[in-house]
Amino acid sequence: EELSMELGNAHGIPHVLMVSFAGQGHLNPLLRLAKRIAAKGLLVTLCSTHDIRHRMVNSDSGAAASDLGAPKPVGRGFIRFEFFSDGLPVDDVRRKDLDVLMPAVRVTGQRAVADIIRRHAEAGRPVSCVINNPFVPWALDVAAEMGIPGGVLWVQSAAVFATYYYYHHGLGKFPTEENPDVAAVRLPGLPLLKQEELPTFLLPTSEYKPLREVILEQFRNINKAAWVFANTFHELEREAIEAISDRIPIIPVGPLVEPPEEKSSPAGIRGDLFKAEDCMEWLDAQEPHSVVYVSVGSILVLSKEEMEEMAWGLCDSHRPFLWVVRGDMRSLLPEGFLDAVIEWSPQEEVLAHPAVACFVTHCGWNSTLEALTAGVPMITYPQFGDQVPDSKFLVEVFGVGVRLAAPATREQMKRCVEAVSTKQRGEEIRKRAAEWKKAATAAVAEDGSSDRHIQAFVDEITNKRS
Ligand code: UDX
Repeated sequence: EELSMELGNAHGIPHVLMVSFAGQGHLNPLLRLAKRIAAKGLLVTLCSTHDIRHRMVNSDSGAAASDLGAPKPVGRGFIRFEFFSDGLPVDDVRRKDLDVLMPAVRVTGQRAVADIIRRHAEAGRPVSCVINNPFVPWALDVAAEMGIPGGVLWVQSAAVFATYYYYHHGLGKFPTEENPDVAAVRLPGLPLLKQEELPTFLLPTSEYKPLREVILEQFRNINKAAWVFANTFHELEREAIEAISDRIPIIPVGPLVEPPEEKSSPAGIRGDLFKAEDCMEWLDAQEPHSVVYVSVGSILVLSKEEMEEMAWGLCDSHRPFLWVVRGDMRSLLPEGFLDAVIEWSPQEEVLAHPAVACFVTHCGWNSTLEALTAGVPMITYPQFGDQVPDSKFLVEVFGVGVRLAAPATREQMKRCVEAVSTKQRGEEIRKRAAEWKKAATAAVAEDGSSDRHIQAFVDEITNKRS
């Protein structure tokens, strides 16, 4: 009853249900896809776990928790949220342990998503399609069992999708436990990948074996998906996209960055899980192209030595810096630095600010696309998973950055900042960055390559319904 009242305005329009894993790097691209689909006239219900609601409310990005269920207008459509239990008590610290979280959320999530689908059908607002992001592949099974078409949104690059896909299907000669000495792997549509350039979870020496399983899990049922969307764009990864599409057609819908008109989204439609500190006024006061922006995303933790070297390297660069240092890492800073760093930034706004000269990044795929869209040169400092091949592409293929070798030293840090941002050097990098900014913006602008793919999906859903 309450739900029906709340959904009064959104009644009678096609309804897409999205299911997100509880991570910033997962929620951001799915929510941004939700906005683009809603803007074209659909109702999108985005569901995730209670933990996410809690974090959205605490970060101020969401309105009051009770308000998140109400449909918010976005363009010609609406977005609303629903949440379900991840099966763990509210303050359970084991939530960080994927071996505990994944099976728990699978059990409660399957039931909850089926229930949500049933409730909406009974209320005369049937779900036309279910879309999930990685780590919750069971959502696709639930949709299939209930006779509803499903789609998935891959949140990393097409090159990385292809690498995992070929590995999962035993295509390509990868290093294995029995045969670890494979120097490089040749895969269709990709440059030769040296062993140390592969997603690290695939290496026989990987310390993160559970993550390999979690990632590959989604390739087991991906054939059930009617649409495999990918957060990339045709112009960026043409060869990888075309080559993998011979086996499994992927639909580029990116870069999924915040649409400019949504930058001042009404509360409740932003998906920040951390509370951003206000740094825009400080940026306004800096010279154009002067600031070094440093952030390693939402998960990565650097060592004390790395933090110290970065800190002194930044000082030696004699440039203003804006450095995001989350939670526990703050205690690893050298004395006196605590006041010079922030806990979380409004990253897209920061990258778009004319004062920013370069971005020291861990190469998470969202950060990568956000920086490409903003045309900001990068200093890559990849640590694990897809970050490693992303760095290779940024430096060698897209031509927009230089790599800072790990573990970072202060001299190297200083040298990298000079390499991308001083007048005499880095000219080619800045030129390429400006070109990618144009291409990225065009792909998601009206009638751009990715916009057309989203429109085609919306048309398909709308026609199915009528
Ligand atoms: C994870 C993985 O680590 C990454 O390798 C994978 O590609 C995606 O999932 P994460 O490490 O959090 O993601 O990095 P990233 O993909 O860059 O996502 C971080 C998001 O948080 C970005 O959208 C970024 O804009 C946002 N962010 C980050 C902020 O809004 N403020 C910050 O201070 C830092």
